[in-house]
Amino acid sequence: MIKGFVAGEEFARWYATARQMAIAHGIEVGELDWLLQGWTDLDRLTLRLQDFSRRQISLREPWDNVQQGWQKRVEEKYPVQYLLGHTQWRNFDLKVTSDVLIPRPETELIIDIVQNQSDQWGLRDPSGHWVDLGTGSGALALGLASLFPHALVHGVDCSAPALAIARENAQRHQLGDRIQFHQGHWWEPLGHLRGQVQGMVSNPPYIPQAELPQLQPEVINHEPLLALDGGADGLQAVEQLIRRSPAYLKPGGFWLVEIMAGQAPIVAELLRKNGTYQDIHIHRDLAGIERFVSARTLG
Ligand SMILES: C[S@@+](CC[C@H](N)C(=O)[O-])C[C@H]1O[C@@H](n2cnc3c(N)ncnc32)[C@H](O)[C@@H]1O
Repeated sequence: MIKGFVAGEEFARWYATARQMAIAHGIEVGELDWLLQGWTDLDRLTLRLQDFSRRQISLREPWDNVQQGWQKRVEEKYPVQYLLGHTQWRNFDLKVTSDVLIPRPETELIIDIVQNQSDQWGLRDPSGHWVDLGTGSGALALGLASLFPHALVHGVDCSAPALAIARENAQRHQLGDRIQFHQGHWWEPLGHLRGQVQGMVSNPPYIPQAELPQLQPEVINHEPLLALDGGADGLQAVEQLIRRSPAYLKPGGFWLVEIMAGQAPIVAELLRKNGTYQDIHIHRDLAGIERFVSARTLG
């Protein structure tokens, strides 16, 4: 929807200043173009050529909001995705607000790993239950629902505002009747599924508390602390997921978590020590970081 217009010459003057602001604050100039592609009718090429002066530019946000939005990005380090209100993740355009973690590109790989491993182990039970614990925006739940067209997917989060966004995202992508969302702590709201779950994935909070202040201001000042804080060693949530999952998964059920660099060997060891898991694997992300650990329950 068009919410206003700005003359090309005025826009050109502002754009030059906005670029300088980005450079002075160490922000990629590309982020400005990304925001403007969402908020104006300008395309990438026109922005690159800075070919504004002979035209009137249509705005999808009032001109004041565009200018203030960029100022907020630069001065407060407010993420572009929250300004735009949505982001691309796999083939989904997802609504995001500061109530949810912005889904990351590396997390997309979880769906590929699930696909590969479930092919390998014949986990494609058409009536299976799949679970995304700590669903946030619902990204992984949507990914699972599109990967397994006959499965019932459950997304759990303890944050009510996050679940509202996740529900909206599921509906936006016509997956509302394939995903059930539940509010509560990890497995707690899924008591009715004990012993019946085909697979679970989770991208839990995993940052050790002492490292939180070193995160980029975009992350620590604007993304939900609940999505980041992994307790003293960062593994508080992961340990619970290791301990509790065997009671809910079917024999041979799939288990996978995302973790941060350096945690994979510890998580693999915790799974081994637990004694109810087999086929424990560490998977790297595209940057070569050991980012995911998967396993299956015995049986
Ligand atoms: C790192 S975010 C992941 C969000 C989303 N799955 C993604 O990958 O983009 C972790 C999520 O776990 C949720 N969470 C934190 N503690 C939880 C708990 N005890 N029970 C359920 N969810 C929890 C947070 O609210 C947050 O949405």
